[in-house]
Amino acid sequence: MELKGKRIALGVSGGIAAYKAAELVRLLVKQGAEVQVAMTEGASHFITATTFQALSGRPVFTDQWDQRMPNAMAHIDLSRQADLIVVAPASADFLARVAHGLADDLLATMVLARDCPLLVAPAMNRQMWENPATQRNVAQLRADGVGILGPASGEQACGEIGAGRMLEPEEIVDSVLVFFTPKLLAGRRVLLTAGPTFEAIDPVRGITNLSSGRMGYALARAARQAGAEVTLVSGPVALPTPAGVERIDVKSALDMQAAVMARATASDIFIAVAAVADYRVTHAAEYKLKKDEGGPPAFELVENPDILASVAALENGPFCVGFAAESHNLEAYAQAKRQKKKVPLVVGNLIQDGFGGDDNRLVLFDDHGVHPLAPASKAALARQLIEHIAHLTGIH
Ligand code: C5P
Repeated sequence: MELKGKRIALGVSGGIAAYKAAELVRLLVKQGAEVQVAMTEGASHFITATTFQALSGRPVFTDQWDQRMPNAMAHIDLSRQADLIVVAPASADFLARVAHGLADDLLATMVLARDCPLLVAPAMNRQMWENPATQRNVAQLRADGVGILGPASGEQACGEIGAGRMLEPEEIVDSVLVFFTPKLLAGRRVLLTAGPTFEAIDPVRGITNLSSGRMGYALARAARQAGAEVTLVSGPVALPTPAGVERIDVKSALDMQAAVMARATASDIFIAVAAVADYRVTHAAEYKLKKDEGGPPAFELVENPDILASVAALENGPFCVGFAAESHNLEAYAQAKRQKKKVPLVVGNLIQDGFGGDDNRLVLFDDHGVHPLAPASKAALARQLIEHIAHLTGIH
């Protein structure tokens, strides 16, 4: 429910991508937003008002002279009730009308009469997108402070391939979330590690663990949404890269250490979330180990470097945050880790509360004391943790 209480006016203009606006409404409502749909006459050729009404739970408006508004001022009322107007899809014609300040239908009039920000997600044939007239209009809209989301490139409804596809509904929701997130880390560089490491035994086998990477990825996303420039050094996980985040894939602890150390001093904040393997095999076999070659193999193990402690020991290093995933004695182990690794903030969680799942329970240990956070989704906890870090680092 990251958009709880937010009032979003969703404008739908005419284009085949209008059918995707139905999914957009569903996702926004799922996040707790109050969605008021207004559509152009053109949009109603592609999708019906009934669909949007059912998904948003509100009447849908198309006509400026709609009798349902007692004062006959649908354009003023609807735009004043919104914290944000999103137009998706925004057709070439609609962009042109907004760029020129036209008010020739309800949606264009709402946009002209708004006192809130406007985001548009263009959707059109690639030639229409590339046309200098459209590009002029888009440049004008940017100059006027309108947020342009996309468009994406790819196969188009007309069969051509190029730029002009509307962003996917999930990507538009992501932009809306970014819009509403306070920019507590604007201009800051955040470096994170996430996921497990994989320590090779031979070319196909290795030592690893069940870390899903979800908490680290949620934090990378939250840091990005808070305005930071984010680099995520990731062990092997099956997760999509959060929008706007630079991701560096690594396998072993040594790879992870090299990637982190190369970037640590250029970062303001380092958050070590990865479940780094404590040990690696001294010499991984060059060829696949065979069962029938003299019984079970014996491995010599050597300790991996502590990446977090190395970064914390840097002169002029970043503000360091560590994680302590424990199965018991959380406070004692987390505090011990904080002292041993010399990091100002350790985030404790019991493995049974969070490993692999979507939810988690976190306790923060810092110089000011112990702060338990209420159990919540990893996304919500990530936002709270980023806020806490922003406060501790004196940014806000
Ligand atoms: O010592 P332990 O593995 O429990 O410490 C956990 C914290 O230290 C996590 O923040 C983890 O990412 C970090 N760590 C590290 N390098 C290691 C081991 C742990 O950065 N080799």
